[in-house]
Parts: sequence; C-alpha cells; structure tokens
Amino acid sequence: MKVILFGATGMVGQGVLRECLLDPRVETVLSITRTATGQTHDKLRELVHRDFLDFTAIASDLTGFGACFFCLGISSFGMKEADYYRVTYEMTMAAAQLLASLNPGVTFIYVSGLGTDSTEQGRTMWARVKGKTENALFRLPFKAAYMFRPGAIQPLHGIKSKTALYRMMYAVTALFLPTLKELFPDSITTTEQVGRAMIKVAGQGYPKTILENRDINQAASELNP
Ligand SMILES: NC(=O)c1ccc[n+]([C@@H]2O[C@H](COP(=O)([O-])OP(=O)(O)OC[C@H]3O[C@@H](n4cnc5c(N)ncnc54)[C@H](OP(=O)(O)O)[C@@H]3O)[C@@H](O)[C@H]2O)c1
Repeated sequence: MKVILFGATGMVGQGVLRECLLDPRVETVLSITRTATGQTHDKLRELVHRDFLDFTAIASDLTGFGACFFCLGISSFGMKEADYYRVTYEMTMAAAQLLASLNPGVTFIYVSGLGTDSTEQGRTMWARVKGKTENALFRLPFKAAYMFRPGAIQPLHGIKSKTALYRMMYAVTALFLPTLKELFPDSITTTEQVGRAMIKVAGQGYPKTILENRDINQAASELNP
C-alpha cells in the first residue's frame, strides 16, 4: 500500500508515520508538509509545500496512492470560526478533492475528534466544522472514506503534540493516563493504536465508517503482525 500523509509533524501524524514506516504492508509514505523535518527513511519521501489551500502545483506527485491518512488539524481553542474553518474544512477539502480526482482507488482516512457534530447544526463551533468536513468527505468519490474520532490519545514513543494546549494537558495527565487505560482500555487510545488502526482500515476495511476510540483500538488489534 502506498500512503500519502498529511500532518506528519503533529502528535497524531507522528504516530501514524511511525507505524507506517514499521509496517511491511506500507510500501512507501509521501508526507506533505509545510516545513522540512529532515527525517529520513528508505520508505519516506517528504514533500514541502507552502499553500495548503491549493495543491495543484504538486498534482503530478499525488497520483498512484492507495491510502491517504489526513492527520492535519488544529485546536479551535481561542480561534475565530473563519480561521478554524479555513484550516479544518478548506485545507482538508483542497487536498481531498484533488486526491479523489487523481486516485480513484484511494481510501481516505480523516482525523476529526470525539463529539464531532454530523448534523452541522449544533452549538459547538469546532464540532459543526468537523462535522461539515466529514460529511463533505463522505460525498467525494473515494474507494472508501473513514472518519477517526479519537477522544483521549496517549502519546507513546516520545511523541509530543505541536499544540501547546494538548502538550500541557498530556503533561498533566501523563501520570494517570496509563492507569486509566488499563482500567478502561476502550476509552483511551494511543498514537500507536491510531497508526495501526489506519493501516488495518485502509488495507482491509472496517464495518463502520466512523470510528471512536473503542473501534480504533479494535481495528488496531485486528492488524496481524
Ligand atoms: N491530540 C489529541 O489528543 C487529539 C484528540 C482528538 C482529536 N485530535 C485531532 O487530531 C488532529 C491532529 O491533532 P494533533 O494533536 O496531531 O495536532 P498537532 O500536534 O498540533 O499537529 C497538527 C498538525 O497539523 C499541521 N498543521 C496545522 N495547521 C496547519 C496549517 N495551517 N497548514 C499546514 N499544516 C498545518 C501541523 O503542521 P506544522 O508542523 O507545520 O505546524 C501538524 O503537522 C486534529 O484535527 C485534532 O483535532 C487530536
């Protein structure tokens, strides 16, 4: 499977990239990023692109993929709706529309979040915008589209969020998150499980198209070594 990855520098994306590079089922990863990371690996190609609202300049690089793992996203905390909408909806759709037209066989996996509002009518701004984004993705002509809606994610293997708010939150919860995960394994996922679940779902499908932590962990556990 050839994978295209957005958000590889973030907490979720770093976890997904790690699992893709470790998994023999993933042949190559093309990471589209706005800043070069310098990370090297035989399977990894990093493509630095500046305008995430328009990918037509790199369209010729975006063909021949079996899966897109879209982990780019921001926290809505302190953001105006228009700015949050631009990153969450417009950037996602700019990439997704082009990929759908160039790769009829692609499976698109989008990371939204627990509480996403599929009605697009609720009072919570971020949930409405994520819901609109999910709904628009479901309408695109992908081979398949899946929405990952994680709640709490335990970062593993030294991975850190780029979002200060999440970093603070995970620094505080780091002491008890592993215990909580042991007590309530379905309520918390890990960056490793999210990555493994994406590989499983893209390669073999999943009975649901919207996956919360329980499903993400289930899918990850179904990925054979
Ligand atoms: N972390 C969690 O606990 C959690 C839980 C539930 C859902 N989620 C969702 O998962 C997604 C990823 O979260 P995360 O924790 O991985 O976030 P993160 O660590 O803050 O990483 C965000 C990623 O998005 C990219 N990005 C942000 N704004 C961009 C822009 N304007 N143009 C281009 N790239 C941009 C960042 O690239 P740069 O490196 O260039 O900034 C980075 O790769 C988000 O949608 C979030 O809501 C996260």
